Amino acid sequence: MSVAASLKSALFTVLLCLSIGAHAEPQTLIFAHVVGENTPKGKMAEMFKSMVERRLGDHYRVDIYPNTQLMDDDEAPFAIPEGRIHFAAPALSKFEQFTERLKVYDLPFLFANMGAVDEFQRGPIGQELLTHMAGEGIYGLGYLHNGMKQLTLATPFERPEDMAGQRFRSMQSDVLVRQFERLNAEALPMAFSQVYQALADDVVQGQENTWSNIYSQRFYDHQPYMMVSNHGVLDYMVITPTEFWQSLPEDHRFFFEYAMDMSIKYGNAVALAKNTNDRIEIERMSNVTVMVPTEEQLRRWQQVMEPLWNEYEAIIGKEVIDAARALQSGI
Ligand code: LMR
Repeated sequence: MSVAASLKSALFTVLLCLSIGAHAEPQTLIFAHVVGENTPKGKMAEMFKSMVERRLGDHYRVDIYPNTQLMDDDEAPFAIPEGRIHFAAPALSKFEQFTERLKVYDLPFLFANMGAVDEFQRGPIGQELLTHMAGEGIYGLGYLHNGMKQLTLATPFERPEDMAGQRFRSMQSDVLVRQFERLNAEALPMAFSQVYQALADDVVQGQENTWSNIYSQRFYDHQPYMMVSNHGVLDYMVITPTEFWQSLPEDHRFFFEYAMDMSIKYGNAVALAKNTNDRIEIERMSNVTVMVPTEEQLRRWQQVMEPLWNEYEAIIGKEVIDAARALQSGI
């Protein structure tokens, strides 16, 4: 072969290799959430992104939209089955348009602590709940923790009676609305991104959230009174469109599963640390009073709120509520 011919053939080979090597652009996967980057959910999303891009970067890029930049979490459960986004982690309270059964997580004082939540989620009902919306296009990849919710208010309070007539922001959940009604208070469901302003403008006088959210959203600016109530749970389900999930090549799906598992473990560790540290930061603030109720005081709150368990038994399912109750008494 002449020099010119072999150069030509080498060039052809290089071009061929380049064209084979030049994949289509990586597919962009969207992860939308409503909290800051420095939160359990924010940290989990970032770890997932970095693991996927490091291993499968030729195929996927994960774009994270924190702080409600793309949509709020009331919209996310609709955007997932429509395939508008690929990942989200809404609070379990935000699925009421799709299922009654997840309302178990909103029942006040049903879960004594995050250990009980963990155990319930590892059990058969908790696992089944992860995928029970798959037929509607919402596939649960795992549970991510934030922590126990605390009650906060603009004015001093100690007893359930002190809540009468106050308006509280709640998530979009009829159980949570009923919870405040049991206190003779009013609940105003609204998106997370609106809460700070609603507190500042006195549209609502109180709210319930975890230490991590109270701290990262600066709710303490307008909520000088707080109670270590631990009365409810803020936990998330990481969701993806069923169709997208099933369409992934098997080896990619395995890796996604692994990456999600690792990221959730990391997020849960962050949740534990943040809720401990952020509580300490808040308790240090000179303008905030954090009340720690006695067991006796807490029992009074429980007595007022717990009738909701019976009220929702037929709606949520007795076996679901019983599975959570069994963890309380150890039976
Ligand atoms: C809320 O709306 O209070 C929470 O769901 C926000 C979040 O995602 O932590």
